[in-house]
Amino acid sequence: MALTRRDFLRSAGALVGVYTLADAWPQARASMPMAMPARTSAAMLAAPKVALVNPSSLARFVDPLPVPALARASVTRTHPMYPGRTLPCYRMTMRACKVRLHRDLPATPMWGYEGQFPGPTIEARRGEPLLVEWINGLPSKHFLPIDHTIHGAEHDKPEVRTVTHVHGARAPATSDGFPEDWYPPGHSALYHYPNGQDAATLWYHDHAMGITRLNIYAGLFGTYLVRDDDEQGLNLPTGDYDIPLMLCDRLVAQDGQLYYPVSEDPAAPWVMQCNGNLVLCNGKIYPYFEVEPRRYRFRLINTANTRFFDLSLSRDQPLQQIASDQGLLPAPLPRTRIELYPAERADVVIDFAGLAGQSIQLRHQAEGILEFRVREHGGRDTSSLPASLRAVPRIDPAKAVQNRILTLNETDDANGNAMTMLLDGKRWSDPVTEKPRQNSVETWSFVNLTGDAHPIHLHLVRFQIIDRRPFDLFAWNAHRKLVFTGPAIAPESQELGWKDTVRADPGMVTRIAMRFEGEPGRYVWHCHLLEHEDNEMMRPFELLPAHS
Ligand code: C2O
Ligand code: CU
Ligand code: CU
Repeated sequence: MALTRRDFLRSAGALVGVYTLADAWPQARASMPMAMPARTSAAMLAAPKVALVNPSSLARFVDPLPVPALARASVTRTHPMYPGRTLPCYRMTMRACKVRLHRDLPATPMWGYEGQFPGPTIEARRGEPLLVEWINGLPSKHFLPIDHTIHGAEHDKPEVRTVTHVHGARAPATSDGFPEDWYPPGHSALYHYPNGQDAATLWYHDHAMGITRLNIYAGLFGTYLVRDDDEQGLNLPTGDYDIPLMLCDRLVAQDGQLYYPVSEDPAAPWVMQCNGNLVLCNGKIYPYFEVEPRRYRFRLINTANTRFFDLSLSRDQPLQQIASDQGLLPAPLPRTRIELYPAERADVVIDFAGLAGQSIQLRHQAEGILEFRVREHGGRDTSSLPASLRAVPRIDPAKAVQNRILTLNETDDANGNAMTMLLDGKRWSDPVTEKPRQNSVETWSFVNLTGDAHPIHLHLVRFQIIDRRPFDLFAWNAHRKLVFTGPAIAPESQELGWKDTVRADPGMVTRIAMRFEGEPGRYVWHCHLLEHEDNEMMRPFELLPAHS
């Protein structure tokens, strides 16, 4: 018997505790002005024609946590940008693969860099450039539902296209993975990364115009670490005790296949959100990880399409957050909960020293998603967790040469649903309007006119959050005037480090400041909810050369 849409939504919601956007962003909802209509976006979802795995039927913590292999530079090459030098060159081939997501599930057909999900971890050092040849070795047919009505994914484009972006990298425009720089199977791109930036947890992922959500969902992402001497001098846990933890969710069917949700319109299957029934840690469902009774560093990365993670440890053990998107915070912050919106990162140190012989779980909301099993013994822990990590000098917003006001909007179709999200009311193909000058400081204010929180990401630059401030939506709609309805709210301590993705809450103006360091050229900024990004909530920006 087919599930009704309502049944599907209810069961999917019950299975993981979160399904609708309203549920996914409780605090965003709470901060919404009363008059803002609550959106029932889920109404456009069609019930799946496949039987999904019931998470409560899956054995917990029976698979070891995979730790992605380190990528190896197989060759060295010269590059015209670095005359007289030979650089390490990594060859990363995107391939179809089969992945066992859980001991009791059939293998899942996916796509992975080097045929792995997640892909191998690339390790870079500050100031040491490297090359990556991103090779599209995928089949010519996509296995997820392409919406050909979406800009950039029309019928005249090859079905399978990829272009890789290193999220958080200060890379030149020609190596940044501009969404229109995609290429089909059998082709590749040689990108160069100067790595002229501080140590941080970055990640690489597909960015092809109009199908990024599907390519990432298929498995195309991995970790890219930048290390530097300053961080190394702190003697934080390293080597086997420094582990990337990529968190995402997927809808998995009982036959092991990935299911990607579709709308009720077969000609326009795009949906505005995709929440899974299962949470994956480094590509496994409910894994366990054997640890020694000592300190570890985990690099938490939210690689999900839509889901935000609300992370905590059982036993009320605090997490010591040491870094955010763009590297170290000024000092470790003890956290009982860490919220991560799509594309955000948090590096944490967990000390298992007092827990020998016991187990402790990493939870998303109330559910354990990863179990740490602490061995009785381990080698001596010589790492440290220094009381201060690095200075993060605040950018003075008064230094800004431009203060841009940019809205986050949604538009309804004739039926009042099927919304398209836009940035500043503009579409991808509209003329470029954000043209910062190289090395100048700007502030950008995101005026969120929608009912949901959106994680906004800028390529190329690292920024600081200045504040969030509630405003009068009606005054804005009537006169395009910002009337604040309350005091500015300072960022929380964990938001006082360098960021590249910021949560823009509904009913709020979220203000960031950045210096536009990097090479002139065309980059992008966008919402990192991948369904939004793919359907017009992405805009180019043009970095103009500095005045000489
Ligand atoms: Cu995570 Cu435009 O990217
Ligand atoms: Cu990015
Ligand atoms: Cu969005």
